[in-house]
Amino acid sequence: MNKILITGACGQLGSELTAELRSIHGNDHVIASDVSEPNPLMGEGPFEHLDVLDRPRIESIIDQYKIDTIYHLAALLSATAEKNIHLAWDLNMGGLLKILDIAKKKSLEKVFWPSSIAVFGPDAPKIRTPQTAACNPATVYGISKLAGEQWCSYFHRKFGVDVRSLRYPGLIGYKSLPGGGTTDYAVDIFHKAIRGEEFHCFLNRDTALPMMYMADAVKATIELMQAPAENITIRTSYNVAAISLSPGDLAAAIQNDIPGFKIRYEPDHRQAIADSWPISIDDTPAQTDWGWQPSYNLQSMTDDIIRQLPVFWNLDTA
Ligand code: SER
Repeated sequence: MNKILITGACGQLGSELTAELRSIHGNDHVIASDVSEPNPLMGEGPFEHLDVLDRPRIESIIDQYKIDTIYHLAALLSATAEKNIHLAWDLNMGGLLKILDIAKKKSLEKVFWPSSIAVFGPDAPKIRTPQTAACNPATVYGISKLAGEQWCSYFHRKFGVDVRSLRYPGLIGYKSLPGGGTTDYAVDIFHKAIRGEEFHCFLNRDTALPMMYMADAVKATIELMQAPAENITIRTSYNVAAISLSPGDLAAAIQNDIPGFKIRYEPDHRQAIADSWPISIDDTPAQTDWGWQPSYNLQSMTDDIIRQLPVFWNLDTA
Protein backbone atom coordinates (compact mmCIF):
# COMPACT_ATOMS: atom_id res chain seq x y z
CA MET A 1 0.00 0.00 0.00
CA ASN A 2 1.40 3.41 -0.98
CA LYS A 3 2.00 6.23 1.50
CA ILE A 4 1.12 9.43 -0.31
CA LEU A 5 1.91 13.11 0.34
CA ILE A 6 -0.13 15.77 -1.50
CA THR A 7 1.15 19.35 -1.57
CA GLY A 8 -1.33 22.11 -2.40
CA ALA A 9 -4.05 19.79 -1.13
CA CYS A 10 -6.44 22.67 -0.36
CA GLY A 11 -6.54 23.83 -3.99
CA GLN A 12 -9.23 23.23 -6.59
CA LEU A 13 -7.69 19.98 -7.85
CA GLY A 14 -5.94 19.07 -4.59
CA SER A 15 -9.10 18.85 -2.50
CA GLU A 16 -10.87 16.50 -4.88
CA LEU A 17 -7.79 14.42 -5.65
CA THR A 18 -7.07 14.01 -1.93
CA ALA A 19 -10.62 12.75 -1.31
CA GLU A 20 -10.37 10.26 -4.19
CA LEU A 21 -6.92 8.98 -3.21
CA ARG A 22 -8.19 8.51 0.37
CA SER A 23 -11.08 6.43 -0.90
CA ILE A 24 -8.63 4.25 -2.87
CA HIS A 25 -5.70 3.95 -0.43
CA GLY A 26 -7.38 4.58 2.94
CA ASN A 27 -7.52 7.86 4.88
CA ASP A 28 -4.35 7.31 6.88
CA HIS A 29 -2.31 6.53 3.78
CA VAL A 30 -2.87 9.95 2.24
CA ILE A 31 -1.26 12.95 3.96
CA ALA A 32 -2.70 16.26 2.82
CA SER A 33 -0.52 19.39 3.11
CA ASP A 34 -0.88 23.06 2.30
CA VAL A 35 -0.08 26.56 3.57
CA SER A 36 -3.86 27.07 4.00
CA GLU A 37 -6.22 25.52 6.52
CA PRO A 38 -7.63 22.07 5.64
CA ASN A 39 -11.17 21.93 4.22
CA PRO A 40 -13.82 19.23 4.75
CA LEU A 41 -13.81 18.40 1.04
CA MET A 42 -10.57 16.43 1.29
CA GLY A 43 -12.14 13.97 3.75
CA GLU A 44 -10.82 12.71 7.07
CA GLY A 45 -7.11 12.02 7.39
CA PRO A 46 -3.72 13.47 8.36
CA PHE A 47 -3.00 17.10 7.48
CA GLU A 48 0.30 18.98 7.77
CA HIS A 49 0.95 22.69 7.28
CA LEU A 50 3.66 22.83 4.65
CA ASP A 51 5.38 25.55 2.66
CA VAL A 52 6.92 23.69 -0.28
CA LEU A 53 9.95 25.97 -0.20
CA ASP A 54 10.83 24.60 3.26
CA ARG A 55 12.96 21.61 2.31
CA PRO A 56 13.79 20.36 5.83
CA ARG A 57 10.07 20.31 6.66
CA ILE A 58 9.23 18.36 3.47
CA GLU A 59 11.91 15.82 4.35
CA SER A 60 10.76 15.46 7.94
CA ILE A 61 7.12 14.85 6.84
CA ILE A 62 8.34 12.23 4.36
CA ASP A 63 10.35 10.49 7.09
CA GLN A 64 7.62 10.76 9.71
CA TYR A 65 4.94 9.15 7.51
CA LYS A 66 7.26 6.94 5.43
CA ILE A 67 6.01 8.58 2.24
CA ASP A 68 6.81 6.80 -1.06
CA THR A 69 4.66 8.83 -3.50
CA ILE A 70 4.17 12.59 -3.88
CA TYR A 71 1.52 14.53 -5.77
CA HIS A 72 3.13 17.95 -5.92
CA LEU A 73 0.33 20.39 -6.74
CA ALA A 74 1.31 23.59 -4.91
CA ALA A 75 1.65 26.45 -7.44
CA LEU A 76 0.34 29.84 -8.53
CA LEU A 77 -2.08 29.77 -11.49
CA SER A 78 -1.79 31.88 -14.63
CA ALA A 79 -3.59 35.13 -13.79
CA THR A 80 -2.14 35.39 -10.26
CA ALA A 81 1.32 34.51 -11.58
CA GLU A 82 1.21 37.42 -14.08
CA LYS A 83 0.73 39.76 -11.11
CA ASN A 84 3.56 38.20 -9.04
CA ILE A 85 6.12 37.01 -11.56
CA HIS A 86 9.00 36.50 -9.12
CA LEU A 87 6.88 34.74 -6.53
CA ALA A 88 5.39 32.56 -9.30
CA TRP A 89 8.83 31.52 -10.50
CA ASP A 90 10.19 30.92 -7.00
CA LEU A 91 7.18 28.90 -5.90
CA ASN A 92 6.42 26.97 -9.09
CA MET A 93 10.04 26.16 -9.90
CA GLY A 94 11.66 26.13 -6.45
CA GLY A 95 8.99 23.81 -5.07
CA LEU A 96 9.30 21.34 -7.94
CA LEU A 97 13.09 21.24 -7.86
CA LYS A 98 13.07 20.51 -4.14
CA ILE A 99 10.54 17.71 -4.57
CA LEU A 100 12.49 16.13 -7.46
CA ASP A 101 15.72 16.34 -5.53
CA ILE A 102 14.16 14.74 -2.45
CA ALA A 103 12.56 12.02 -4.62
CA LYS A 104 16.04 11.20 -5.95
CA LYS A 105 17.72 11.33 -2.54
CA LYS A 106 15.09 9.18 -0.81
CA SER A 107 14.44 6.89 -3.81
CA LEU A 108 10.72 7.60 -3.75
CA GLU A 109 8.54 5.32 -5.85
CA LYS A 110 6.64 7.96 -7.86
CA VAL A 111 6.02 11.69 -8.23
CA PHE A 112 3.11 13.42 -9.96
CA TRP A 113 3.40 17.03 -11.09
CA PRO A 114 0.81 19.04 -13.06
CA SER A 115 1.76 20.91 -16.20
CA SER A 116 -0.69 22.88 -18.34
CA ILE A 117 -1.85 23.81 -21.82
CA ALA A 118 -0.14 27.11 -20.93
CA VAL A 119 3.18 25.64 -22.17
CA PHE A 120 1.90 26.41 -25.67
CA GLY A 121 2.16 29.95 -27.00
CA PRO A 122 0.65 31.88 -29.89
CA ASP A 123 2.82 30.12 -32.51
CA ALA A 124 1.52 26.59 -31.74
CA PRO A 125 -1.28 25.23 -33.95
CA LYS A 126 -4.54 26.29 -32.28
CA ILE A 127 -6.68 23.34 -33.27
CA ARG A 128 -5.82 19.85 -31.98
CA THR A 129 -2.44 21.13 -30.79
CA PRO A 130 -0.10 18.11 -31.06
CA GLN A 131 1.97 16.71 -28.20
CA THR A 132 5.15 17.89 -29.90
CA ALA A 133 3.99 21.36 -31.03
CA ALA A 134 6.36 24.29 -30.41
CA CYS A 135 6.29 25.46 -26.81
CA ASN A 136 6.89 29.21 -26.66
CA PRO A 137 4.70 30.26 -23.74
CA ALA A 138 3.54 33.86 -23.41
CA THR A 139 3.03 33.86 -19.62
CA VAL A 140 5.32 33.38 -16.63
CA TYR A 141 3.03 30.53 -15.58
CA GLY A 142 3.62 28.85 -18.95
CA ILE A 143 7.38 29.47 -18.72
CA SER A 144 7.44 27.81 -15.28
CA LYS A 145 5.43 24.83 -16.53
CA LEU A 146 7.67 24.38 -19.58
CA ALA A 147 10.86 24.56 -17.50
CA GLY A 148 9.26 22.19 -14.97
CA GLU A 149 8.50 19.65 -17.70
CA GLN A 150 12.13 19.71 -18.73
CA TRP A 151 13.28 19.23 -15.13
CA CYS A 152 10.94 16.24 -14.79
CA SER A 153 12.32 14.70 -17.95
CA TYR A 154 15.90 15.39 -16.78
CA PHE A 155 15.41 13.78 -13.37
CA HIS A 156 13.87 10.73 -15.02
CA ARG A 157 16.61 10.39 -17.64
CA LYS A 158 19.54 11.16 -15.41
CA PHE A 159 18.51 9.78 -12.03
CA GLY A 160 15.65 7.36 -12.82
CA VAL A 161 13.04 9.33 -10.83
CA ASP A 162 9.60 8.00 -11.88
CA VAL A 163 7.95 11.39 -12.30
CA ARG A 164 4.76 11.64 -14.37
CA SER A 165 2.85 14.66 -15.56
CA LEU A 166 -0.26 15.87 -17.39
CA ARG A 167 -0.78 19.10 -19.30
CA TYR A 168 -4.17 19.88 -17.79
CA PRO A 169 -6.67 21.93 -19.71
CA GLY A 170 -8.87 24.35 -17.70
CA LEU A 171 -10.46 22.33 -14.90
CA ILE A 172 -14.14 22.79 -14.14
CA GLY A 173 -15.52 21.61 -10.80
CA TYR A 174 -18.37 22.69 -8.52
CA LYS A 175 -16.97 21.69 -5.13
CA SER A 176 -14.17 24.21 -4.70
CA LEU A 177 -13.93 27.84 -5.75
CA PRO A 178 -11.40 28.95 -8.35
CA GLY A 179 -7.97 30.27 -7.48
CA GLY A 180 -6.54 32.76 -9.96
CA GLY A 181 -6.70 30.91 -13.28
CA THR A 182 -7.71 32.23 -16.71
CA THR A 183 -10.11 29.33 -17.23
CA ASP A 184 -11.82 29.94 -13.88
CA TYR A 185 -14.76 31.85 -15.42
CA ALA A 186 -16.05 28.37 -16.28
CA VAL A 187 -16.34 27.60 -12.56
CA ASP A 188 -17.79 30.95 -11.47
CA ILE A 189 -20.44 30.90 -14.18
CA PHE A 190 -22.25 27.96 -12.55
CA HIS A 191 -22.44 29.65 -9.15
CA LYS A 192 -24.09 32.70 -10.73
CA ALA A 193 -26.41 30.62 -12.93
CA ILE A 194 -27.66 28.53 -10.00
CA ARG A 195 -28.34 31.68 -7.96
CA GLY A 196 -30.30 33.23 -10.84
CA GLU A 197 -27.74 36.05 -11.29
CA GLU A 198 -26.36 37.51 -14.52
CA PHE A 199 -22.74 36.43 -15.14
CA HIS A 200 -20.12 38.98 -16.21
CA CYS A 201 -17.52 37.02 -18.16
CA PHE A 202 -13.90 38.26 -18.32
CA LEU A 203 -13.35 36.52 -21.69
CA ASN A 204 -15.07 37.15 -25.05
CA ARG A 205 -18.02 35.00 -26.12
CA ASP A 206 -16.05 33.11 -28.77
CA THR A 207 -12.79 32.45 -26.91
CA ALA A 208 -12.68 28.65 -27.03
CA LEU A 209 -10.19 26.85 -24.78
CA PRO A 210 -9.47 23.22 -23.87
CA MET A 211 -11.39 22.30 -20.69
CA MET A 212 -12.07 19.22 -18.58
CA TYR A 213 -14.59 18.27 -15.90
CA MET A 214 -12.93 17.71 -12.52
CA ALA A 215 -14.11 14.10 -12.36
CA ASP A 216 -12.20 13.44 -15.58
CA ALA A 217 -9.10 15.28 -14.30
CA VAL A 218 -9.02 13.11 -11.17
CA LYS A 219 -9.56 10.00 -13.30
CA ALA A 220 -6.74 10.95 -15.72
CA THR A 221 -4.33 11.61 -12.85
CA ILE A 222 -5.00 8.30 -11.15
CA GLU A 223 -4.89 6.32 -14.41
CA LEU A 224 -1.55 7.88 -15.35
CA MET A 225 -0.11 7.08 -11.92
CA GLN A 226 -1.41 3.50 -12.04
CA ALA A 227 -0.02 2.77 -15.53
CA PRO A 228 3.01 0.45 -15.71
CA ALA A 229 6.23 2.49 -15.93
CA GLU A 230 7.18 0.87 -19.25
CA ASN A 231 4.01 2.33 -20.86
CA ILE A 232 5.02 5.90 -20.02
CA THR A 233 6.83 7.10 -23.13
CA ILE A 234 6.52 10.82 -22.38
CA ARG A 235 8.49 12.09 -19.41
CA THR A 236 7.93 15.79 -20.00
CA SER A 237 4.12 15.92 -19.73
CA TYR A 238 1.17 14.34 -21.58
CA ASN A 239 -1.39 16.33 -23.55
CA VAL A 240 -4.84 15.35 -22.26
CA ALA A 241 -8.06 16.50 -23.90
CA ALA A 242 -11.73 16.39 -23.02
CA ILE A 243 -13.89 19.34 -24.12
CA SER A 244 -13.14 22.47 -26.15
CA LEU A 245 -15.55 25.25 -25.23
CA SER A 246 -16.05 29.02 -25.34
CA PRO A 247 -18.01 31.13 -22.85
CA GLY A 248 -20.80 31.29 -25.45
CA ASP A 249 -20.90 27.48 -25.75
CA LEU A 250 -20.99 27.07 -21.97
CA ALA A 251 -23.73 29.70 -21.60
CA ALA A 252 -25.83 27.88 -24.22
CA ALA A 253 -25.38 24.54 -22.43
CA ILE A 254 -26.44 26.18 -19.13
CA GLN A 255 -29.45 27.79 -20.84
CA ASN A 256 -30.62 24.30 -21.88
CA ASP A 257 -31.07 23.63 -18.14
CA ILE A 258 -31.73 27.18 -16.87
CA PRO A 259 -33.49 29.01 -19.74
CA GLY A 260 -33.44 32.44 -18.02
CA PHE A 261 -29.65 32.48 -17.53
CA LYS A 262 -27.98 35.68 -18.76
CA ILE A 263 -24.33 36.43 -19.55
CA ARG A 264 -22.49 39.68 -20.38
CA TYR A 265 -19.00 39.76 -21.92
CA GLU A 266 -16.48 42.16 -20.37
CA PRO A 267 -13.01 40.95 -21.37
CA ASP A 268 -10.11 42.12 -19.18
CA HIS A 269 -6.34 41.45 -18.98
CA ARG A 270 -7.01 37.69 -18.92
CA GLN A 271 -8.23 37.82 -22.55
CA ALA A 272 -4.62 38.16 -23.77
CA ILE A 273 -3.58 35.09 -21.77
CA ALA A 274 -6.46 33.06 -23.22
CA ASP A 275 -5.66 34.28 -26.75
CA SER A 276 -2.15 32.82 -26.44
CA TRP A 277 -3.43 29.30 -25.63
CA PRO A 278 -4.74 26.46 -27.84
CA ILE A 279 -8.41 25.98 -28.71
CA SER A 280 -8.27 22.18 -28.60
CA ILE A 281 -5.67 19.51 -27.88
CA ASP A 282 -4.55 16.31 -29.62
CA ASP A 283 -3.90 13.69 -26.93
CA THR A 284 -3.08 10.65 -29.08
CA PRO A 285 -0.04 9.55 -26.99
CA ALA A 286 -2.11 9.56 -23.76
CA GLN A 287 -4.74 7.43 -25.49
CA THR A 288 -2.15 5.01 -26.86
CA ASP A 289 0.15 4.73 -23.82
CA TRP A 290 -2.33 4.44 -20.96
CA GLY A 291 -5.77 4.34 -22.58
CA TRP A 292 -6.97 7.87 -21.79
CA GLN A 293 -10.64 8.59 -22.60
CA PRO A 294 -12.73 11.33 -20.95
CA SER A 295 -16.18 10.42 -19.65
CA TYR A 296 -17.91 13.83 -19.90
CA ASN A 297 -18.84 16.12 -22.78
CA LEU A 298 -20.07 19.72 -22.52
CA GLN A 299 -23.74 18.94 -21.89
CA SER A 300 -23.23 15.94 -19.57
CA MET A 301 -20.77 17.98 -17.48
CA THR A 302 -23.16 20.95 -17.38
CA ASP A 303 -26.16 18.81 -16.41
CA ASP A 304 -24.15 17.11 -13.66
CA ILE A 305 -22.90 20.41 -12.18
CA ILE A 306 -26.34 21.99 -12.26
CA ARG A 307 -27.77 18.94 -10.49
CA GLN A 308 -25.02 18.62 -7.87
CA LEU A 309 -23.91 22.18 -7.08
CA PRO A 310 -27.01 23.33 -5.13
CA VAL A 311 -27.04 20.14 -3.07
CA PHE A 312 -23.33 20.34 -2.34
CA TRP A 313 -23.47 24.02 -1.32
CA ASN A 314 -26.78 23.56 0.50
CA LEU A 315 -28.51 26.21 -1.60
CA ASP A 316 -32.23 26.75 -1.66
CA THR A 317 -32.95 27.16 -5.38
CA ALA A 318 -36.72 26.54 -5.19
N1 SER B 1 -6.38 26.55 -15.59
C1 SER B 1 -5.08 27.13 -15.58
C2 SER B 1 -5.16 28.60 -15.52
O1 SER B 1 -6.09 29.15 -16.03
C3 SER B 1 -4.32 26.72 -16.80
O2 SER B 1 -3.52 25.64 -16.52
O3 SER B 1 -4.27 29.20 -15.00
